[in-house]
Amino acid sequence: MTQLVLLLAAFATSCVAQYSLSVTGTSPYSLAVQLENQTLVANNAVLTGAANSSTAAISASISGQFTNSSGEISAAMLSSTIAKIDVNTANSFVGAQFSTSVDEDIFGVWEYPWSLALSNNNVSFDLKGVANNEGMNWVNARAPFFMSSKGYGVYTDTLAMGSYDFTDPSQARFIFNSSSLTYYIIMPILEEASPFKSIIEQYTNLSARITMPPDSGYGPTFWSDDAEQDFHGSVSNAEENFYDILNHLYYNQIHATSMFADRPYGTGNHSFGNFDFDPEFYPDPDAFIANLSSWGFDFQVWVANRAFLYTELFNTSDANEWLFTNQDPTIFLGPALNLSIPEAYDYFKDRLSYFTDLGVKGYKIDRGEEDEMPVYEQNVQMALFEQLCAENMEAKWGPNGYYNFARSVVDRSRARAAVWNGDSWANFTGLAYTVASGIRSGLMGFSQWGSDTGGYVREEGNPTEELWARWMHFSTFSPMYELMLGTNHTPWYDYSPRLVSILKQTANLHHDLVPFIKSHTYTATQTGIPLMRALFLEAPLDDAGFSIADEYFFGSEFLVAPFVSSGTQRSVYFPKGGKYLEYFNKTEVYEGGTSADIRLDLEDIPVYVREGAIVPRGDVVQGNNKWTDDWAPSLTIEIFPSYDMPKQEFRYYWGTPGEGHEATITTTMDPDYMTVLVSYGEVGANGTIVVYTKSGPIEAEIVPEGAESIFFNVESLFACEEN
Ligand SMILES: *[C@@H]1O[C@H](CO)[C@@H](O)[C@H](O)[C@H]1NC(C)=O
Ligand SMILES: *[C@@H]1O[C@H](CO)[C@@H](O)[C@H](O)[C@H]1NC(C)=O
Ligand SMILES: *[C@@H]1O[C@H](CO)[C@@H](O)[C@H](O)[C@H]1NC(C)=O
Ligand SMILES: *[C@@H]1O[C@H](CO)[C@@H](O)[C@H](O)[C@H]1NC(C)=O
Ligand SMILES: *[C@@H]1O[C@H](CO)[C@@H](O)[C@H](O)[C@H]1NC(C)=O
Ligand SMILES: *[C@@H]1O[C@H](CO)[C@@H](O)[C@H](O)[C@H]1NC(C)=O
Ligand SMILES: *[C@@H]1O[C@H](CO)[C@@H](O)[C@H](O)[C@H]1NC(C)=O
Ligand SMILES: *[C@@H]1O[C@H](CO)[C@@H](O)[C@H](O)[C@H]1NC(C)=O
Ligand SMILES: *[C@@H]1O[C@H](CO)[C@@H](O)[C@H](O)[C@H]1NC(C)=O
Ligand SMILES: *[C@@H]1O[C@H](CO)[C@@H](O)[C@H](O)[C@H]1NC(C)=O
Ligand SMILES: *[C@@H]1O[C@H](CO)[C@@H](O)[C@H](O)[C@H]1NC(C)=O
Ligand SMILES: *[C@@H]1O[C@H](CO)[C@@H](O)[C@H](O)[C@H]1NC(C)=O
Repeated sequence: MTQLVLLLAAFATSCVAQYSLSVTGTSPYSLAVQLENQTLVANNAVLTGAANSSTAAISASISGQFTNSSGEISAAMLSSTIAKIDVNTANSFVGAQFSTSVDEDIFGVWEYPWSLALSNNNVSFDLKGVANNEGMNWVNARAPFFMSSKGYGVYTDTLAMGSYDFTDPSQARFIFNSSSLTYYIIMPILEEASPFKSIIEQYTNLSARITMPPDSGYGPTFWSDDAEQDFHGSVSNAEENFYDILNHLYYNQIHATSMFADRPYGTGNHSFGNFDFDPEFYPDPDAFIANLSSWGFDFQVWVANRAFLYTELFNTSDANEWLFTNQDPTIFLGPALNLSIPEAYDYFKDRLSYFTDLGVKGYKIDRGEEDEMPVYEQNVQMALFEQLCAENMEAKWGPNGYYNFARSVVDRSRARAAVWNGDSWANFTGLAYTVASGIRSGLMGFSQWGSDTGGYVREEGNPTEELWARWMHFSTFSPMYELMLGTNHTPWYDYSPRLVSILKQTANLHHDLVPFIKSHTYTATQTGIPLMRALFLEAPLDDAGFSIADEYFFGSEFLVAPFVSSGTQRSVYFPKGGKYLEYFNKTEVYEGGTSADIRLDLEDIPVYVREGAIVPRGDVVQGNNKWTDDWAPSLTIEIFPSYDMPKQEFRYYWGTPGEGHEATITTTMDPDYMTVLVSYGEVGANGTIVVYTKSGPIEAEIVPEGAESIFFNVESLFACEEN
C-alpha cells in the first residue's frame, strides 16, 4: 500500500516523473520498472524450459542475447507507462517471475473466486476452465492478466495454455506452452484518479474490450433448463410453454426483453448437432420466433462445440477427420471439432445460419472445458468458437444486434461474447461465490456479466424462497438479469405470491435502471472499466477493499451489498472517501470508513448512493411492455447533491446501440445561493429531473432536446447535522 501512496506522491510533486525500465541483472536476467530511482516492479527472472515442470531462469547479456545464443529477450518501454518484453527461445515453455511482498494482493487471471476471495494469494492453476468446485461449477472466464495491489499489472498476450502460480508469497510466476512470449508490465497513468482503473484501461486497450450489446442483453431474460417438460394448463409443447411464460409476464406486468432455449430443443442424439428444432416440441419455429419478436422478445438458443454421436455435426466432422481424438465419441460428452482447420470452422459457421435465418438473435455458448479437446487447446478453440458464433450473428444482425454469452470466455474473446458465470449452486454458498465471481470478472475487463438467478444446481427444495429473493435483488444490480424457471421451479406455479411480487419488483427495477446500466456499459466499451467494480477501483487508498468480496460499486454511483447468507442482518462496510445515502428510503447517511449492521427483509437490498451522484433511470426500452397504451420512453434523472462535490458529471448513453448518442449531464453547486444547476444535452426522451434534498424531492421537467434547470433552497442530504 505504501508503494501506491509513494507513487501518487511522486506524481503529485513532480511533473517530470517518468517510469523507466532497466536491466538489473544478467545472471539471472532481470528487469525492473522504476520511478525516481525507486523500484516499483521487480521482474526478477525470465523462465524457460523443455517441460513445464523443469523451467529455469534465463541468463542473458544486458542486450538480451542469451549467453549460449539459443534465444533473445528484448525489453523496452512501449509508451510512458507500458513496458513490453518479447522472449524468443528454442524451448517449448516460456514464462516470467515477479518479486512480491507478503502484504501484496494479486487479482485477475480467473473469474472463479478461490476460497471466496478477490485475490489469488496461494492459488496455483492453469489458465483453463475450472471444473466442479465449491460454490459453482464451470466458472470459466479467464485472462492472462494480473494486477497487484501495489499498483501494476502484467498482461501476457497469448492464447497458449499457461500456468499461474501464486503459492509463494515472495513470487508471482507464470509459464506458457509456447517457445516465444510477449508480456507487458502496465503502470498506472497517475493523472487519472484511480490507478487500478487506469491499469484496466491500458490492459483492455492491448487485448480487447466488450462490444455494446443490444438493449435485450441486459434482460430481464427468462429461460428454462428444459422447455420440453413441466407443462401447465393447456400447454402441450415447448412453444406453448414459452407463450405461457410470456403471458404470465404480461399479466403480472413484469418487464422482460428476451428468452432463450437451452438444450434440449433439436432432434438427434442429445438434441444438438442436426441444426434444427424438434418438430414434436417446436411445430413451427419460424412463426414461433416471429411471434415472440412481435411481443417484444429477442430469442436465443444453446450451442456448443461438441459433436454428439451420429448427429449431422458428428457425421460430417468424423468423415472429414475434424474431430479431436482425445475423447471417446460413444460417451455422452462427445468430442469437439478442431476449429483451427478452416474447413471445419467454415462448415460450423455456415450451418449455424439455420438459426439466424429463422430470427434467432444470440447464442448461449456452453462448454469448452469438459475434456472434449486436449487441455492445451482450450483457449485457442474457445476463441475460435466464440469468433465463429459472433461472425455468424453479425452477418445477419450487425455488430450490436445480437447477444452471445458464454461461460468459457477467454481474454481475446471479450468483444465477442458476454459472460454468464456457469453452473452456480442454488444455495447461499452458490450466491456468495457468484457475487465474488462477478466482481472478479470486472477486474479482468469482462463487464457484461450475469448469473443464473436462483442458482443452477438445484437439489431437492432449492432454491428456497429466501435465497431466490436475495438473488433476484443481486441480479437487479448486475449488468444482466437472467432467471431460470420451469422444470418445477416457476415462481407463479411452485412458489408463493410473495416471491412473484419480489420477482416483479426486482425485474422492473432492473428494467428501470437500464439507462444507467447502458451508459456504464458504453463506458466499458470505450475504456474497459467494468460496471461491477471491486471497492478498490473506486476507493484505491482504502486497503479494506482488497479483501471485501461481498460488496461492490455499481458504476461509481452505487455501493451494493447483497445478502449472501441466510438471515435478515448483514454488516456493510462503507469505503473511505465521501458519504453514502441509503438509496430507497433516502434517510440514512453513512460516513466512509465506517461499518453498519443492516437489517432488511426479503423485499429489500442494501444499496447506497454516493454523495453528488447523478443517476439516469426510467422506462426507455419497451421490450414486452404491451400493457401500456401508446408507450413512449420516459426518463428520470435523479440528483443527490452535495456541496462537497461542487461539480459532477454523468455521461448518459441512449438510442440504438452502435448508433447511440452520448449526453453529458452536469450538476454545479453554489453553496452561497444554495442552488444546483443541472444542465444536459439531448437525451431523447421526456421525463423528470428529481433533486433529492433534506426538505424532500424537488422536480423539473426534462426537455428532450437538452436544457438547463436551476433548483433553489437545496439543502443537501449529506450535510452534517449541526447540534
Ligand atoms: C537518482 O539517482 C541518481 C544517480 O544514481 C541521482 O543523481 C538522483 O539524485 C537520484 N534521484 C532521486 C530522486 O533520488
Ligand atoms: C541455453 O539457455 C537456455 C536458457 O538459459 C537453456 O534453457 C538451454 O538449455 C541452453 N541451451 C544450451 C544448448 O545450453
Ligand atoms: C496455501 O495452500 C496450502 C495448500 O493448499 C495450505 O496448506 C496453506 O495453509 C495455504 N496457505 C495460506 C496462507 O492460505
Ligand atoms: C504442465 O503440465 C501439466 C501436466 O502435464 C499439464 O496439466 C499442464 O496443463 C501444463 N501446463 C501448461 C502451461 O502447459
Ligand atoms: C504443449 O502444446 C503442444 C502443442 O502445441 C502439445 O503437443 C503439448 O502436449 C502441450 N504440452 C502440455 C504439457 O500440455
Ligand atoms: C490504446 O493503444 C493505442 C496504440 O495501440 C494508443 O495509441 C492509445 O493511446 C491507447 N489508448 C489508451 C487509452 O491507452
Ligand atoms: C403468439 O403468441 C401469443 C403469446 O401469448 C399466443 O397466445 C399466440 O397463440 C401465438 N400465436 C401463434 C400463431 O402461435
Ligand atoms: C449419422 O450416421 C449414422 C451411422 O451411419 C446414421 O445412423 C445417422 O442417421 C447419421 N445421422 C444423420 C443426421 O444423418
Ligand atoms: C447417442 O449417443 C450415445 C453416447 O452419448 C451413444 O451411446 C448412443 O448410441 C447414441 N445413440 C444414437 C441413436 O445415436
Ligand atoms: C449447496 O449446494 C451444493 C450443490 O447442490 C451442495 O453440494 C452443498 O452441500 C450445498 N451447501 C449447502 C450449505 O447447503
Ligand atoms: C424503508 O423504510 C421502510 C419503512 O420503515 C422499511 O420497511 C424498509 O425496510 C426500508 N427499506 C430500506 C432499504 O431501508
Ligand atoms: C415529449 O412530449 C411531447 C408532448 O407530449 C411530445 O410532443 C414529444 O414527441 C415528446 N418527445 C419525445 C422525444 O418523446
